[in-house]
Amino acid sequence: MKKIVSLLMVLGMALALGCGAAAGKDSGAAKTAAKNTAPAKAGKSIVVYFSATGNTRKVAETASKALGAELLEIKPAQPYTEADLDYNNENSRVSKDHKNPKARPAVANQADLSGYDTVVVAYPIWWGKEPPVVDTFMEHAKVDGKNMIALCTAFSSQIGSSGEDLAKNVKARYLGGRRFEPSASVDELTNYFKGLGVEK
Ligand SMILES: Cc1cc2nc3c(=O)[nH]c(=O)nc-3n(C[C@H](O)[C@H](O)[C@H](O)COP(=O)(O)O)c2cc1C
Repeated sequence: MKKIVSLLMVLGMALALGCGAAAGKDSGAAKTAAKNTAPAKAGKSIVVYFSATGNTRKVAETASKALGAELLEIKPAQPYTEADLDYNNENSRVSKDHKNPKARPAVANQADLSGYDTVVVAYPIWWGKEPPVVDTFMEHAKVDGKNMIALCTAFSSQIGSSGEDLAKNVKARYLGGRRFEPSASVDELTNYFKGLGVEK
């Protein structure tokens, strides 16, 4: 009899634990559903940017004003010299990295962005996509599930799929991305963010 009672207790506990786990899963699903509704507010937001020659810095500064967001420059551990940036030289640093999709140049100031709701990442277009040092930073920034917006500058290219691909790689929730001129105004950026459902 004793054996039957303890067996029933074990069964009861297993059932209770099982229900708990199921309940846990349900609340997770609810959280995921909530994440899929575009926020009216940016929440705690930050603009992170890499800029080799200053153009993207201007857009990033304007974006941070438009969103009332913090601003952080992604600094490569080894800064890019003019020779490094020579894309016409197939032996330059950027050309070598371009030939190796796994290249991940080290970052001097890696940050953990898990405390933010919205992360805006700004970069120059290099061969149609983001520079690899941006990948290094974002892959270690803990942005999974965060809202992500991509901004870029370029000679003539558009942002293409670079922002979306980056968001997918780091499991962020991509709201959109666009190229801006370095001279873009606060109003232009504010309107763009509003269009994505994100406001100060
Ligand atoms: C390695 C390298 C590759 C580039 N590739 C492109 C490109 O594919 N398309 C384009 O329009 N501009 C390209 N550019 C130009 C930059 O995107 C443009 O000058 C950008 O505004 C520079 O931003 P920054 O001053 O913030 O570094 C490239 C520049 C470099 C250095």
